Amino acid sequence: MDGTQNIVGAAHDKIQHDSAVKHVTGKALYIDDMPNLPGTLEIVLVTSPHAHANIKSIDSGVALAQKGVAAVLTAADIAGHNDIAPIFEGEPAIAEGVAEYVGHPVAIVAADTYDQAFQAAKLVQVDYEELEPVLEIKDAMAKQQFTYTPPSITKGDPDKALKKAKHRLQGELACGGQDHFYLEANVALAVPGEDQDMTVYSSTQHPTEVQHGVAHVLGVPSNAITVEIRRMGGGFGGKESQPTIFAAMAAMVASKTGQPAKLRLRRDDDMIITGKRHDYEFDYDVGFDDDGRIDGLDIAMMMRSGNVADLSSGVMARSLCHGDNCYYLENVRFRGYPCKTNTVSNTAFRGFGGPQGMIVIETILEHIGHHLGKSLDDVRKVNYYGTNDRNVTPYGQTISDNIIEEMTDRLMAEIDFEGRKKEIEKFNAENSTLKKGIAAMPVKFGISFNMPALNQAGALVHVYTDGSVHLNHGGTEMGQGLFTKVAQVVATVFQIDIDNIKISSTRTDKVPNTSATAASAGSDLNGMAAYDAADKIKTRMIGIAAKNFDVAENEIEFRQNRVYAGNESLSFAELAHMTWENRESLSATGYYQTPDLTWDPITCTGSPFYYYSYGVSISEVVIDTLTGESRTLKTDILQDCGKSLNPRVDYGQIEGAFVQGMGWLTSEELVWNDKGQLLTHGPSTYKIPGSRDVPPELNIHILEDAPNRVPTIFRSKAIGEPPLMLAISVWLALRDAVSRCGDGSKLPKLNAPATPEAILNAVTEIRA
Ligand code: MTE
Ligand code: HPA
Ligand code: MOS
Repeated sequence: MDGTQNIVGAAHDKIQHDSAVKHVTGKALYIDDMPNLPGTLEIVLVTSPHAHANIKSIDSGVALAQKGVAAVLTAADIAGHNDIAPIFEGEPAIAEGVAEYVGHPVAIVAADTYDQAFQAAKLVQVDYEELEPVLEIKDAMAKQQFTYTPPSITKGDPDKALKKAKHRLQGELACGGQDHFYLEANVALAVPGEDQDMTVYSSTQHPTEVQHGVAHVLGVPSNAITVEIRRMGGGFGGKESQPTIFAAMAAMVASKTGQPAKLRLRRDDDMIITGKRHDYEFDYDVGFDDDGRIDGLDIAMMMRSGNVADLSSGVMARSLCHGDNCYYLENVRFRGYPCKTNTVSNTAFRGFGGPQGMIVIETILEHIGHHLGKSLDDVRKVNYYGTNDRNVTPYGQTISDNIIEEMTDRLMAEIDFEGRKKEIEKFNAENSTLKKGIAAMPVKFGISFNMPALNQAGALVHVYTDGSVHLNHGGTEMGQGLFTKVAQVVATVFQIDIDNIKISSTRTDKVPNTSATAASAGSDLNGMAAYDAADKIKTRMIGIAAKNFDVAENEIEFRQNRVYAGNESLSFAELAHMTWENRESLSATGYYQTPDLTWDPITCTGSPFYYYSYGVSISEVVIDTLTGESRTLKTDILQDCGKSLNPRVDYGQIEGAFVQGMGWLTSEELVWNDKGQLLTHGPSTYKIPGSRDVPPELNIHILEDAPNRVPTIFRSKAIGEPPLMLAISVWLALRDAVSRCGDGSKLPKLNAPATPEAILNAVTEIRA
């Protein structure tokens, strides 16, 4: 079955986000917009000013005596377990005994008003004994200090291949982290109920994990805790694990005081207290032949994991599984090092380690090209995965849907890449202050959580007797349009206009045991689960309709808000009522699990991805060699969305992800001082892209006639993360521009982000 144009909002229709108007008129309700219940307390955190220190004592006496202050809680007040680790164990919600980063929450102050809590928090006296912090990746490497056992992938015999190779190069690279900078900071509101019950409104991508974390900290069973979220004001991975911390704290206050409690972080606190994209340092060693074909490769991927593991093992696994990007590697070793540092624990961020894995292989190919006097694109050509051979990844998965080379060739031809390169050469010959650069970036991104158990989803659908439909599933809405897409699926199953379908908030008591809405798999998973639920109800309704019209069930057809048997028909609502009258259930749960996934986290082998999503971009940039400033002038994108569930939403995802990726690679720079204090904790010092940073020419094309080869929901493909990595074309183009400042003998020394300072330094170095 597929969408038809006979109803409004079918699958594949270009309808707008269900909340688009509400978002721009301010009518969309976020947690902080909910009216305060009587007695709601506001929470402010006391955090560590030291990167590493023993907590010798906490004196809350003075703070507690202040007007309006209801509670000052510390780790000692935790009734259950002080552990909210998403994967491993032993990651405290509140620092206990030792503080491990600047900003580590040490105590919670709750008062009648925010201002009272804020003032009182300053009066909590914590006695610290400072310890030596480990702040940098290289220091943690020297100490071999990791948050979990370092993983690696090996295929073939890289050492032998490196030794035998005709050419061999070594090099290093670093890429920075990134703050999520969602418009809505972390927020949680805990409302106590009867007995030990607690309802927690949490701005989270992962309500089930919040439920578990809160239950764990309070020492109550999961069935006492209900977590609800209608929408986030952005998540971007930053609300996959982090919200548990704040929900647990709000719940502690609510549990202790019997009053509702709200914890809403200020922007600066959110930036200091919560994890970000992992910054990485890389060392590589590559052997290759005269054509630039890689024979042997060894990469050390050193990530700043932060004080605890959090999701680092998943992120690193994705880096290891994307260090190949689009290229076949016969003899390869990717070594991961999750460095434990006294900085905030880094976490999921759109791409989840994929961008870091890809940026290093692209740099290596550029290095090879430079060495051989070939272009990056020529080197890519000889290294691309094949379609029938040369198609096994370093982790052992066979790629059966590869289309990247043809997509890249097509985009290059369409925009006259060779002609544009010549024009740029001419421009550069005539200009000494401004220099232009151009580069392509092919992307292959694996879809599925790289932990098979997470690839499952549930849904709950009710049809009421007036024909209106209530839709619920385990996915969360963070602006990506998931709720719209899943509603389109249900509209398509019932063949009714989408405005008959009520989208409802995600709740752990409606659909339990869910995965985070992450890994771009939200619509793949929840779309299928909702399809299953709606289809069950439809089957029952067909039975009733067949009886009513006295025809066989296969003669019943749902079409344009009506149900037909030949020329006879009744409305969907009439059939709903009739189904009730005949005592058949109009409610069903749905369930889906992604097939055919395997993964061994110890050997890092298996087939962890159901399919791959492909995309290619070409960007042209200009740099000012006197100031280091840069602009992206023009970007063309060709993105594979399968048979898009909603091209309008997908277009927005491509645009947003690309620009967010540009931010990571050009302007967003996290700076810590030598005490481990984050200096860039607000918009005045941390520069996310503005509307004028968007390339003035940004041409986005969704690949046509490209249904997913595996059966996903209506043959669509995931879109949330893959286009972020297309922004690497901007960074490569900046390197191209820098390299054109010299005589061609040197490779540019430019890491990410390529800020104006970094570009200026690289230009100076290359001209020296
Ligand atoms: N788009 C918006 N507007 N806001 C977000 O927070 N998060 C991204 C992406 N697109 C995000 C977004 C991330 S990190 C992921 S994993 C996916 O959306 C999650 O949603 P999906 O699986 O439904 O695509
Ligand atoms: N993406 C996002 N979150 C995850 C993943 C992933 O691949 N694996 C585990 N958690
Ligand atoms: Mo997205 S980083 O998988 O939440």
